Amino acid sequence: MSNQSLTITDNRTGKTYTIPIEHGAIRATDLRQIKLSDDDPGLCTYDPGFMNTAACKSRITFIDGDKGILEYRGYPIEQLAEHCTFLEVAYLLYHGELPNRTQLKEWTDQITRHTILHENVKQFIAGFRYDAHPMGMFVGTVAALSTFYPEAKNIHDPAVRRKQYFRLVAKVPTIAAFIYRHNIGMPYAYPDNDLSYTGNFLNMMFKKTELKYKPDPALERALEILFILHADHEQNCSTTAMRSVGSANTDPYSALAAAAAALYGPLHGGANEAVLRMLREIGSKDRIPEYIKRCKAGEVRLMGFGHRVYKNYDPRAKIIKQAADAVFEVTGKNPLIDIAVELERIALEDEYFVKRRLYPNVDFYSGIIYEAMGLPTDLFTVMFAIPRTAGWLTHWEELLQDPDTKIARPKQLYLGSPRREFVPMDQRP
Ligand code: CMC
Repeated sequence: MSNQSLTITDNRTGKTYTIPIEHGAIRATDLRQIKLSDDDPGLCTYDPGFMNTAACKSRITFIDGDKGILEYRGYPIEQLAEHCTFLEVAYLLYHGELPNRTQLKEWTDQITRHTILHENVKQFIAGFRYDAHPMGMFVGTVAALSTFYPEAKNIHDPAVRRKQYFRLVAKVPTIAAFIYRHNIGMPYAYPDNDLSYTGNFLNMMFKKTELKYKPDPALERALEILFILHADHEQNCSTTAMRSVGSANTDPYSALAAAAAALYGPLHGGANEAVLRMLREIGSKDRIPEYIKRCKAGEVRLMGFGHRVYKNYDPRAKIIKQAADAVFEVTGKNPLIDIAVELERIALEDEYFVKRRLYPNVDFYSGIIYEAMGLPTDLFTVMFAIPRTAGWLTHWEELLQDPDTKIARPKQLYLGSPRREFVPMDQRP
């Protein structure tokens, strides 16, 4: 018997089974042979929230939550954040290797030439109310793009898939900026393809009447770092949504809209927005103990704290804290930062948080940086969705190339009523 195997004894029947172990996992379908009788569907696992279930094999991102390690294609996030641009990291995620100079230029040119939106998309955005939430607009607009590019349905054609990657990665900053300008009543600023990915984003957001917008290099770089940190995070809720919807062979725009909808939730990408609201609600340092008390009583959560995977620290939070200083040198210090720093200090000394291994996550400081840059709070999750688009599409590509891929269809443990006969209306109690 191979030592890479698991032997299970079913105490209901006394039978013993041997199941192979591969990559530290057993196949859930191997448990089906463990049954009480021929018509028993067999044993399955129960795992709400996928706490201990691998739904795919992936070669993109590695996380060791206990050690606080995050790597894209084997490269530590700290090194990528220090040396790369966002598009270079997007190339790495997609191809598995860092680009050489020529490859990066070609990649950047391909993406840059797709930054413009079809003029009808402007009318579509104009249909939203002035106070519509940017994430609702983002989800709707990305889904609507599927109607502009119907060929995207040919998801088994690699060239078609690659083109949609370029379109989506190029257009999401434009969508985000147009949403922002619609909401504040400013005319749209069109992409400037002479600028970098993040420089152009700042241009589309903040250009006023000047002929040529010049992004501040420190803000441009800080945004590159934030985008790199948010580019991928393996099988989180939104990536799982992308993969689940993608497994039905849905076009990438619709699948990405689903992923963005998952990101919208306050337990996921919506947390950066929630952090800012929480800091404003706390309002001053002397009110922090009262808020901590409410957290411990289970009334509220300390937003930006805790992570399903990181139980030591979130390496992204450390890098972001450094990026924040560079931003504040340009923008001046955000008064909320003092509350955040003090909140972090108090929480990290508090037994409740220590015992539960709750540490600041990526969203604890990102919102403060975005606010200092002049972005409205309800745009923060869109700021997360822009770089994550590269991660979602890379997972989608991997999913479609994986021979193991099946349409996502979990089992359930049915605990409802057993079969019974229909009761006519006049006989019901
Ligand atoms: N504040 C207070 N208590 C918390 C918090 C928090 N932020 N997070 C977890 N807990 C407690 C929770 O009440 C539970 O306590 P008990 O064992 O007494 O019932 C224990 O810690 C374990 O919590 P959990 O909800 O079972 O943990 P999880 O792994 O399912 O949840 C999480 C992870 C990120 C959803 C959660 O920590 C949370 O809600 N954090 C706040 C929201 C947030 O910042 N989300 C951003 C995540 S990072 C960016 C991203 O991935 O999108």
